[in-house]
Amino acid sequence: MAVKLAGIKACVFDAYGTLLNVHAPVAQLSSRIGKDADAVSRLWRQKQLEYTWLRSLMKAYVPFWQVTGDALDYTLEAFSIEDQGLRDDLMELYLHLAAYDDAVACLKILKELGVATAILSNGSPDMLDAAVKSSGLDAYLDENISVADVGIFKPDPRVYQQAVDRMGVAERSEICFVSANTWDAQAAKSFGLQVARIDRFGLKDDRIPGTPDMLLDSLEELPGVVR
Ligand code: LAC
Repeated sequence: MAVKLAGIKACVFDAYGTLLNVHAPVAQLSSRIGKDADAVSRLWRQKQLEYTWLRSLMKAYVPFWQVTGDALDYTLEAFSIEDQGLRDDLMELYLHLAAYDDAVACLKILKELGVATAILSNGSPDMLDAAVKSSGLDAYLDENISVADVGIFKPDPRVYQQAVDRMGVAERSEICFVSANTWDAQAAKSFGLQVARIDRFGLKDDRIPGTPDMLLDSLEELPGVVR
């Protein structure tokens, strides 16, 4: 594994699971869910991702907000939870996800170093705007890039191309893409970005093309890697 990434002009981050804690809403309302809370949160996230992949293949794009709600509805039904108030409260919390501490620290240092920064996410623009504002990340991000502009979800290559176009770099390899999602990190590497995967969940690489350039234990390591 490399210690430094050379020639980086911009750092582009996945949002959900990487900068923003997707398990915070269920954790916050766990007393209303009970012993299945962790499993509920995991299934909600898994179904949310599955629905993005399926809808991309089906050419049936809808905004990530709907996908997120559909995945929650599936999950609540799977656990026989009938509670419209809980459903509404979880969705409301999803709009205001907390940022991971190391995400804030990392973006702050990158800003001080003058490195261009952006989010590249499945999230709809309204979701991303709300989340970066409430988490305070907006102060350190130059761009919020949403897949809404291309109408298909990750890992379609058109999504990663958006980062190249919007950050105005000459080569794909001038972008350092950062994700905690193994498949996202690997697809971005396969596309030609340089990639640092942040190991938030102790996951192994998936058996798909693309090996990230490095694995980080904390996002606080990133500024030293790109400068
Ligand atoms: C995103 C999902 C993959 O933010 O976490 O794009």
